[in-house]
Amino acid sequence: MQIQTATINDVPEILELQHKAFLPVGEVLNWLDAPNITETIETALEEFPNFTVLKMVADDGKIVGSVRGKVDDGSLFIGRLMVLPEYQRNGYAKELLHKIQEVLPHNRVWLETTSDITSTYTFYEREGFRTFKTEHFDNGVSWVSMAKWELHTNRILLRPWREDDVEALYKYASDPDIGTRAGWPPHKSIEDSTEVLRNILMNDTTWAIILRETGEPIGSIGYMTNYTSTLPSRPNEPLVGYWVGKPYWNKGICTEALNLMIKHIRAVSDYKSLISSHFVDNPASGRVMQKCGFVPTGETCVDSDLSGMEKPMAVLRLEF
Ligand SMILES: CC(C)(COP(=O)(O)OP(=O)(O)OC[C@H]1O[C@@H](n2cnc3c(N)ncnc32)[C@H](O)[C@@H]1OP(=O)(O)O)[C@@H](O)C(=O)NCCC(=O)NCCS
Repeated sequence: MQIQTATINDVPEILELQHKAFLPVGEVLNWLDAPNITETIETALEEFPNFTVLKMVADDGKIVGSVRGKVDDGSLFIGRLMVLPEYQRNGYAKELLHKIQEVLPHNRVWLETTSDITSTYTFYEREGFRTFKTEHFDNGVSWVSMAKWELHTNRILLRPWREDDVEALYKYASDPDIGTRAGWPPHKSIEDSTEVLRNILMNDTTWAIILRETGEPIGSIGYMTNYTSTLPSRPNEPLVGYWVGKPYWNKGICTEALNLMIKHIRAVSDYKSLISSHFVDNPASGRVMQKCGFVPTGETCVDSDLSGMEKPMAVLRLEF
């Protein structure tokens, strides 16, 4: 068996394989019009260029398995992992799953599947994937989104924020010592935190800082490229921001998180530099930046657009 990159000429054979591999699943779920089963050659051909598609080829040239993947801002989506029924239970799916992650650099990987087929679901769990979203379709199928995060140290991991993090978010973000230092109002209610989660934190360039020992989100870190501010930013220069819950200050946690994020940004983008700023009366934040290689530009600015506060901020930049 060999894993190779598929070409557009392979699409008809892969589509046939797809129908054969997913039909038994559709029968178990009583979902015979599932998109994987009903997909036409036209759609398959149209979608092909949007993905990297791998094929597993037997010695006689027959395609017995396939998987596809696509990276968006460091987030790898894996789909259509399939092996012909008569070739299943040989570890080929696992090989394909590993290979697609190897060939497409990423920091986060996610996929969608049903939790109704236990063998598939537990296979992904054994591979380190965890459910972050469940939908219940009208046809009775439970559809789950599962993800695995690669940004971690011995103590912390960075993973996308989830709606069920709201209690932890409120616990730390309601502390007035956090928001006022970072330039946002302390959360006043769980509803506040829910809104911030949905509108500000749940995106592909913001992560919850998770203490691995407890699994609890204890802070947040992220970067953004679309912002209006009076910072002396260069065009297309991401702005970095973070906070850590007070009980965890001065333990090196934010420094670890920022180093992880910088490593990720360097791996998945070609930005030339990062910019950040902190209120001049918040030296701990500047210290974190400096420990991670940021250098003060010597500039200060008052940026009430960004922070809502009329307080001078020191500006630092990390050149790659
Ligand atoms: C800034 C913040 C994220 C730091 O998190 P942290 O996990 O405590 O950071 P670290 O432990 O990695 O590093 C903190 C550094 O600041 C230093 N520090 C702490 N208080 C300081 C002070 N008053 N003056 C100077 N340095 C200080 C610490 O000694 C440490 O440096 P060191 O390792 O050289 O000793 C945290 O204090 C916080 O969330 N503050 C409120 C929100 C905020 O300010 N966000 C940043 C907005 S720009």
